[in-house]
Order: sequence, then structure tokens, then C-alpha cells
Amino acid sequence: MKKLVIFAIGSYVLLMFAGMVFAQASAGRMTAERCSACHSTARICEKLGNRTPEVWLQTVERMKSNGAKLSDADVTTVAEYLATAKPGAKLLCGGK
Ligand code: HEC
Repeated sequence: MKKLVIFAIGSYVLLMFAGMVFAQASAGRMTAERCSACHSTARICEKLGNRTPEVWLQTVERMKSNGAKLSDADVTTVAEYLATAKPGAKLLCGGK
């Protein structure tokens, strides 16, 4: 019984973690795709790691008004991704 509980909790934690990794990867792919329509992602990559989440949200909202194809939910997803992405992020900047 105890082993079963540990197994259940372990699987749950593992699934949550896998889900987070998957969500991060798909947010990264969306950002790379939607944010390279008008300018290169280099323009974004040079700013990674030195903007607050609020400023990224403002940036993404401004890009939406510039004409980026993003739903309101996409704006949140992309802004959250950019706020947590490391400088040189692989999906967006081709780094590690
Ligand atoms: C429809 C065209 C278009 C798309 C798509 C687009 N941008 Fe831009 N981007 C612009 C234009 C025009 C500028 C220069 C004017 C400005 O800064 O608003 C710019 C400038 C920038 C800058 C430099 C200015 C600053 O705030 O440092 C960043 C960073 C940026 N874009 C990020 C993004 C991100 C992130 C996305 C994806 C959500 C994106 N862009 C998608 C048109 C676009």
C-alpha cells in the first residue's frame, strides 16, 4: 500500500514535470514562429534576461498592435516564455 502511494505520487510529479517541459517547449516554438515574421529573433535574443515580466508583456502587446498574429492567450504564453527564457535560449536563438 505504502509503495503504491509512493508510486502514485512519483508518477504524478513526473507527469507534472514533463508537462511543464512540454509547455515551455511549445511556447518557445510559438515564440520563434510568430516573432520572426517581421524581424529576426536576434532582436529579441539580445534582450533576454534583462527585462521584467511586465516589460515583456508590454513588448508583446506592442508587437500585437504592430501586427503580430497572436490571440490574447498567445500574448500571455509568449510573454511568460520570454520572461523565463535564458539568454541564448535554444528554441529562439539557436543556443543552448
Ligand atoms: C507584424 C510585425 C512584427 C511582428 C510579428 C513582431 N514584431 Fe517585434 N517589432 C516590430 C516592429 C515594427 C518593431 C520596431 C518598432 C517597435 O519597437 O515597436 C519591432 C521591434 C521589436 C523589438 C525591439 C524593441 C524593443 O522593445 O526592444 C523587440 C524586442 C521585439 N520587436 C520583439 C518581438 C516579439 C517578442 C515578437 C513576438 C511576439 C515580435 N517582436 C513580433 C514588428 C513586429
